[in-house]
Amino acid sequence: MKKAILKGPRDLKIKTLESPNLNLGPDDLYIKTEISAFKIGTDRGNYEGADIVPGADPYPRGVGDSNLGTIEKIGSNVKNFKIGDRVVTRAEHQSEYIYNQNASIVKVPENVDSEDAVFCHLYTLSAQCYRKANFTPGENVAVIGVGVLGLGAIALGPLFGARTIAIANSEIRLEMAKKMGAHAGFLSNDEDLNQKLEEYSNGQGIDLVILTANPWPAYKTSVDIVRPGGRVSIVSLLGRGEKELDFNPLALETFYGKGIHLVAVNGESAYLYPHGSTERHNNRGDRFSWNNLCDYVLALMSDGNLEPKKLITHRLDYTDISQAYDMAFERNKNMLGVIFKWNT
Ligand SMILES: NC(=O)c1ccc[n+]([C@@H]2O[C@H](COP(=O)([O-])OP(=O)(O)OC[C@H]3O[C@@H](n4cnc5c(N)ncnc54)[C@H](OP(=O)(O)O)[C@@H]3O)[C@@H](O)[C@H]2O)c1
Repeated sequence: MKKAILKGPRDLKIKTLESPNLNLGPDDLYIKTEISAFKIGTDRGNYEGADIVPGADPYPRGVGDSNLGTIEKIGSNVKNFKIGDRVVTRAEHQSEYIYNQNASIVKVPENVDSEDAVFCHLYTLSAQCYRKANFTPGENVAVIGVGVLGLGAIALGPLFGARTIAIANSEIRLEMAKKMGAHAGFLSNDEDLNQKLEEYSNGQGIDLVILTANPWPAYKTSVDIVRPGGRVSIVSLLGRGEKELDFNPLALETFYGKGIHLVAVNGESAYLYPHGSTERHNNRGDRFSWNNLCDYVLALMSDGNLEPKKLITHRLDYTDISQAYDMAFERNKNMLGVIFKWNT
């Protein structure tokens, strides 16, 4: 089997490893990868050797966590999946693997293209930026940073009932944002940004900012543009691998004075009306478990309303994987959605 291994900063190689043992445990699935998707922000940081990410393994380590493949064999206890199912998992960039049926895995509806479905975990995180900040339809939402997660938030905004405004650091990305459904777009270094947002929102202001960029200036823009009493959903890993902070992030005039809410978006969130855990509730578990949230995003794709593949700029053979990492390292603005093909 083939697997992408990061041996150290900027040293990514495809390794040939022994194929997995097919004596499966009862909950195991054997999956062959069709494609995997590049998660630019986090993957680039790992590639650069940026500050240690919580939970990151030491070198050498695998990379990536959006993998779409087909189930080829199942363990004796597997009931919800069958051979031939197309699934999306959080497995790393590799050609085949064993995966536990109870881990983060969702079945892809038949009419959803693999190139859309492979982004479902990333788009689920984009959706969490709305959910965790108690988004209400009709609100004005500014998405700062137009990378994969930012574009996901932009694409979902109109479906959720948001007026969605992209705030990028390049014109190219503003164009891409428009293609994904942004109602408006501005550059973050526009000297008249606040005034333009005020005009765009008819003086109502930005209710929710979704921050998907790591640099502190992007955070500063967030707290500057959010309206008094508004919320900032922070999904980026602020300051990671960036210049040091040179201002007070909780300055009186922005944090206290405006009475804003800062919300960390880090994965699952509790549901307002949870299922009970008794027999009567059928032990359904968390209504907003990650897999259930992913199912919802896949349903939006199945309806034909959400098409991440519109943002695919590169389709690469797995042997060329390090090209994508180098482009991310150079912060190439023409590269956004990247798919690695694993038909080994
Ligand atoms: N919370 C979680 O569970 C979680 C999970 C996954 C990822 N993340 C984090 O989420 C973030 C977004 O991921 P991603 O894959 O979408 O990353 P990405 O592709 O790097 O997107 C961030 C974008 O923001 C841009 N940017 C930087 N400063 C800006 C500014 N001042 N104004 C406007 N745009 C600015 C970046 O441009 P440059 O390239 O020029 O800097 C980049 O295009 C990353 O920090 C990642 O580590 C968090």
